Amino acid sequence: MSATAKKRAPMPADIRARKGGAPLVSLTAYTTPMAELMDAHCDFVLVGDSVGMVLHGLPSTLGVTMDMMVMHGQAVARGLRSAMMVVDMPFGSYEQSREQAFGNAARIMGETGAGAVKLEGGVAMADTIAFLVARGIPVMAHVGLTPQSINTLGGYKVQGRDADGDRVMADAKAVADAGAFAVVLEKVPEGLSDRITAGVDIPTIGIGASAGCDGQILVVDDMLGLFTAFKAKFVKRFAELGAGAEEAIAQYAADVRARKFPGPEHVFGDAAPVKKAK
Ligand code: KIV
Repeated sequence: MSATAKKRAPMPADIRARKGGAPLVSLTAYTTPMAELMDAHCDFVLVGDSVGMVLHGLPSTLGVTMDMMVMHGQAVARGLRSAMMVVDMPFGSYEQSREQAFGNAARIMGETGAGAVKLEGGVAMADTIAFLVARGIPVMAHVGLTPQSINTLGGYKVQGRDADGDRVMADAKAVADAGAFAVVLEKVPEGLSDRITAGVDIPTIGIGASAGCDGQILVVDDMLGLFTAFKAKFVKRFAELGAGAEEAIAQYAADVRARKFPGPEHVFGDAAPVKKAK
């Protein structure tokens, strides 16, 4: 590639073709500046419905709306050049019928420029996934812990321990058979994650799953230490930006109160600067 040639963003088929290859790298993003920071480092960026908890202070993802996903999708799209964007379908936007799912997925794709949508659910959503894929909408699936179902799952528990493993395996196989191009495995035990990765022909993207998955994803605010309300076991904090930000804000407040800020370099003189003769 020449020095000026731009890398094109991968398409869902490119992501699917990475099965068994070098690990796929992904993070969530919700804003343009954050998308710009991760663009060169990620294969795809997910505009996750985690935006509700991380940026909007909601107690769960259940209150996230289509309008929120579209607005954050548009913001993230402005920051991406070489990574593909996937946008989450929020709770209530796809479960009622295949037609409802198509209408909302088409809106997300059309209004944000996303390369694909993601939706939660396995066997129960397989028919919907096949309907969307047959009509031109690439789908990333999400099985294991599906946060939109916390009320029926009974909380944010690990999914697929012991006999329940067959259910999670069946979910992963169902979405692969339905035509999903990749599947997120969330909070699934390591051994089961590895068996699912070996058992499906699409990439598995782990979050709280296994290093043996075909790729990994984390919520960006978790891994940067910006979201500190709680930390799941599967989160590794690669930085502590929240603590650094609070320290800077406290210093700003102290400087303002002590009239140390603004300093002479931050204010404007009353006389216009003298122009130098040419
Ligand atoms: O909404 C989200 O951020 C997600 C990831 C946790 C996979 O679905």
